[in-house]
Amino acid sequence: MGEVVPLPVAETGAEERPVLVLDLGGQYAQLIARRVRECRVYSELVPHSITAAEARARNPRALVLSGGPASVYAEGAPKVDPELFSLGVPSLGICYGMQLMAQELGGSVDRTGVSEFGKTEVRADAGESALFSGLPEEQTGWMSHRDSVTAPPEGARVTAGSPAAPIAAFEAPERGLYGVQFHPEVVHTPHGQELLKNFLYSVAGAPPTWTAAAVIEEQVERIRAQVGSQRVLCALSGGVDSAVAALLVHKAVGEQLVCVFVDHGFLRKDEAAQVVETFEGHFHVPLIHVDAQARFLSRLDRVADPEEKRKAVGEEFIRVFEEESNRLGKIRYLVQGTLYSDVIESGGDAAVAATIKSHHNVGGLPKEMEMELVEPLRLLFKDEVRRVGEELGLPERMVWRQPFPGPGLAIRIIGEVTRERLEILREADSILQEEIRRAGFYRELWQSFAVLPAIRSVGVQGDERTYGYPVVVRAVTSDDAMTADWARLPYDLLETISSRIVNEVPAVNRVVLDITSKPPSTIEWE
Ligand code: XMP
Repeated sequence: MGEVVPLPVAETGAEERPVLVLDLGGQYAQLIARRVRECRVYSELVPHSITAAEARARNPRALVLSGGPASVYAEGAPKVDPELFSLGVPSLGICYGMQLMAQELGGSVDRTGVSEFGKTEVRADAGESALFSGLPEEQTGWMSHRDSVTAPPEGARVTAGSPAAPIAAFEAPERGLYGVQFHPEVVHTPHGQELLKNFLYSVAGAPPTWTAAAVIEEQVERIRAQVGSQRVLCALSGGVDSAVAALLVHKAVGEQLVCVFVDHGFLRKDEAAQVVETFEGHFHVPLIHVDAQARFLSRLDRVADPEEKRKAVGEEFIRVFEEESNRLGKIRYLVQGTLYSDVIESGGDAAVAATIKSHHNVGGLPKEMEMELVEPLRLLFKDEVRRVGEELGLPERMVWRQPFPGPGLAIRIIGEVTRERLEILREADSILQEEIRRAGFYRELWQSFAVLPAIRSVGVQGDERTYGYPVVVRAVTSDDAMTADWARLPYDLLETISSRIVNEVPAVNRVVLDITSKPPSTIEWE
């Protein structure tokens, strides 16, 4: 992960006193920040280069030092400002973070020749420890280290050991120093979350006040302070981010918000109707529903190349959106569903984050529009957005919708997009969705959908030879879409999907299953 720049200081609420997670390069740094928030304590990921003065200005509840791939004694290994340990707030070092604390604060770290990777038995002295209080004496900890702490910081007591790491945890309450060699943030450490709670609640005295309701209250205030009595524009896509962002803004400034939903005609069955029903019908959000199906279809006429399709859909989207916003007159503010992970991944630069996001999503808006961004999800991880959505009363279907590409079904028809093919794919996909949901797999899967390659093959139905389309079933599990595995769906579910599709969609005479992971494949076919 690149350099991470801290977010602006929050004035009020749970964000007033964040737990700062110092990123020392470990793959789980972001996960630690998420886990802290799952304990209802607000946290932020900051670069390890943060100075003690900068940290003090944030008035943190506690510091957590993440893991990292380096050896603490290697040249150029990431270090932290030693003054951080004199801020008067407790610090928890995890893996590399723990070793760094030991090295900096009077202990020692060595390559003992014994490494530990994976599940490891950890034996803790629960009675005398704040971190392990109430936890079993023996528990499994997920380890990943070559070096080990061979002497704890001055004044620290060893509170846990493992077969290869006799110092698997230490505590120095007087100095506010706590370290664990294993990773409490990963699911393979079953009591990890309880350990984090012990640190946050008992050691750091942080109250569990970071709830969806608190987030809503806080954001509503911020939005009001930002936009005053001005009008605000929001593009709805049907996805959870823009939906939650719009609802937050609507809660804050009511009818000052106007939403534009450009229906390009490439959504799944009933999705467009659901957006209109939810926002206009249920929440009474001022909504302009632009039925632009015909326009988009003709724009895609004879376009088969995937990137050309994306470009065409993106450009057409901007054109339609601009036309609508011109009709509305000058509006100064534009809602954008930038998430905290976008902010982190782009090095904290909002503008860059927005570009990355808009690049990948239809909905990227032109610079000429020169609007100020309202970004009510900037502090939130995706799972928090969902919780806020639930709290705001967004229907379950929208809150838990699987990721869906901006150009939608247009890039799931392999070949030219026609009205007829869209209808075939929409029907087949809807059957697939229905069966996946019925079988209880929808939330477990990262994505599940149908693909329509525009080729035909021979089949036989009744006494007749057919010449129809195949439909591909694509279902994957994934954490972040960077890698993915094909889902092992039960045979009887696949059979139901297959027979329903060929029986109910006349143009289809064959159903095939994509059994490739990513890499070497991608999740989408285009
Ligand atoms: P791939 O197919 O590259 O997809 O494995 C990774 C994730 O990105 C989504 N995706 C898109 N999202 N516009 C989007 O908004 C696109 O053009 C696009 N192409 C792929 C895909 O659904 C998956 O979640």
